[in-house]
Amino acid sequence: MCGIVAYIGHRQAAPIIIKGLKRLEYRGYDSAGISLLNGGLNIYKKMGKVADLENLIDGKNLDSTIGTGHTRWATHGEPNDINAHPHVSRSGNISIIHNGIIENYASIKQDLINKGYTFNSETDTEVLVNFIESIKEERQCSLPKAVRLALNAVVGAYAIVVMTKEDPNLLVAARKGSPLVVGIGKDEFFFASDATPLIEYTNEVVYLKDYEVAVIENGEFSIRDVKNVEKTPYIETIEMELEAIEKGGFEHFMLKEIYEQPKSIKDCMRGRLNADEGRLVLGGIREYANRLIEADKIVINACGTSWHAGLVSEYFIEEFCRIPVEVEYASEFRYRNPIINEGDIVFAISQSGETADTLAAIELAKSKGAIIFGICNVVGSSIARATHEGAYTHAGPEIGVASTKAFTAQLTVMFMIALKLAYRKGTIGESAFRSMLFEMERIPQKVERTLELNEQIIEIAKKFKDSGNFLYLGRGYNFPVALEGALKLKEISYIHAEGYPAAEMKHGPIALIDEDMPVVFIATKDRGYEKIISNIQEVKARKGQVIAIVTEGDEEVSKIADYTIEVPDTHEALMPLISVIPLQLLAYHIAIMRGCNVDQPRNLAKSVTVE
Ligand code: G6P
Repeated sequence: MCGIVAYIGHRQAAPIIIKGLKRLEYRGYDSAGISLLNGGLNIYKKMGKVADLENLIDGKNLDSTIGTGHTRWATHGEPNDINAHPHVSRSGNISIIHNGIIENYASIKQDLINKGYTFNSETDTEVLVNFIESIKEERQCSLPKAVRLALNAVVGAYAIVVMTKEDPNLLVAARKGSPLVVGIGKDEFFFASDATPLIEYTNEVVYLKDYEVAVIENGEFSIRDVKNVEKTPYIETIEMELEAIEKGGFEHFMLKEIYEQPKSIKDCMRGRLNADEGRLVLGGIREYANRLIEADKIVINACGTSWHAGLVSEYFIEEFCRIPVEVEYASEFRYRNPIINEGDIVFAISQSGETADTLAAIELAKSKGAIIFGICNVVGSSIARATHEGAYTHAGPEIGVASTKAFTAQLTVMFMIALKLAYRKGTIGESAFRSMLFEMERIPQKVERTLELNEQIIEIAKKFKDSGNFLYLGRGYNFPVALEGALKLKEISYIHAEGYPAAEMKHGPIALIDEDMPVVFIATKDRGYEKIISNIQEVKARKGQVIAIVTEGDEEVSKIADYTIEVPDTHEALMPLISVIPLQLLAYHIAIMRGCNVDQPRNLAKSVTVE
């Protein structure tokens, strides 16, 4: 949530910052702002998108080789020009950009008010910048020291970059809980919430750790922690192609990412799975592999779409490995005194690797002695680093706010882990193991074929684009897919949608069904097939409109459903990888037809770094 970009070096800062903010716009897009240094601190900020900020600064003198920029997802204070970042201190000397929440801002604010400070905005960030200034003035100390002292008194989460009009060769940045990457160029430095704004300038980065304060002063880069202990920067080389973060001819990132799934699933299996050789290797799970095999319970923590991936995983881990699985909303888990004992196994699934609740759930489980496995997409992210071991999903950057390719990659990784575990435990035999490997290898090509249904899905979208409600129903492995289909639709089209286990429909949602209610059934051929046909009949008997995802060649459902979408067959445990594709496309097309901004749906952010 909130995107941060900053630059100091020999180039013009403004174009680098604006371009970087556009790359980070998935993190928030309520307002955007920039702070530059020429003569004094020049701050431009505007409610709306980065494009609105660009209009605002058009024609202005932007000459500056140092600057900070921000794109906001509002926490304290509504989205407007005043609450937009950067915020500036009372004297006008210091500006700050901030991602996170200062939880004790009210008491700090009161102290500052007692000292005569006044505030323009409703934000915690304006409090922080004035707090830093008050310390600097009272202690007569340097800006880096004032930042450190202030952060010692702060409770909450932050990634900040601070600049001062008193020194054009100084930038101070710090993090706790919110991500911040430093890009190391030749005589130039970058800060950003993730690596995407940096990669065209440098591939050498340092991921700041919690409580670290980075200072760039006169071309020198150093890190100390908030207690003033010197730290050695660990420089990593990142591999990310520029094309991966651009739209590549697609109208939206979401559509590009939907279409990337044959490749992203293949990338996820690359080097790990070889069916011909009967080989399945997950390099990130070694030291703790035996603990996993001995597990008598597995707890999965996640949020949003990743939680749905966790739910599918529950079904196949229990089926193949015969280990009980609990899937937890991380936000609930962490606040309800969960029973976790020394050596328990916890998985955290997260695309961004930065979701605040998932991260906090991990820390809680860790403090109780659990062994944590992380399933993340963003390499080097906080969750990836906070876990004992894990596996990356290798789906490539996911920029559309509604998660698509990350979901199928999460399922792929979790399935590989489950399969390997089942094999090592002996809960599946050699031939079943091998045949599942072959089936997995065929998935990318089957997803490719499913994508060919796009035109048919557009036609269905046209019919239902004006519906006010949708119901999604599935059984077994396809129940979490129903939840995911409903989530996709409501996220990007703002149509109210609910996902339900098909049989549960009779305990409530059936009351909603009339001729205006589209009901999407995921009714592929599996052990629940006969039952779901009865559920379809129950909907038809009440004049509901049925759109059914069925297995190729299905003749039963097409007799009763209004629309059928035929997808390639696979093992039922792998079907979510295929059956979710038409639902992603349906949500996308309906949203487009309703004129919605699918890549930046209102009120949402891709990376939720606040609780
Ligand atoms: C936000 C995003 C979702 C995502 C969820 C969990 O709500 O909009 O797409 O599924 O966070 O994020 P994570 O990065 O932990 O998977």
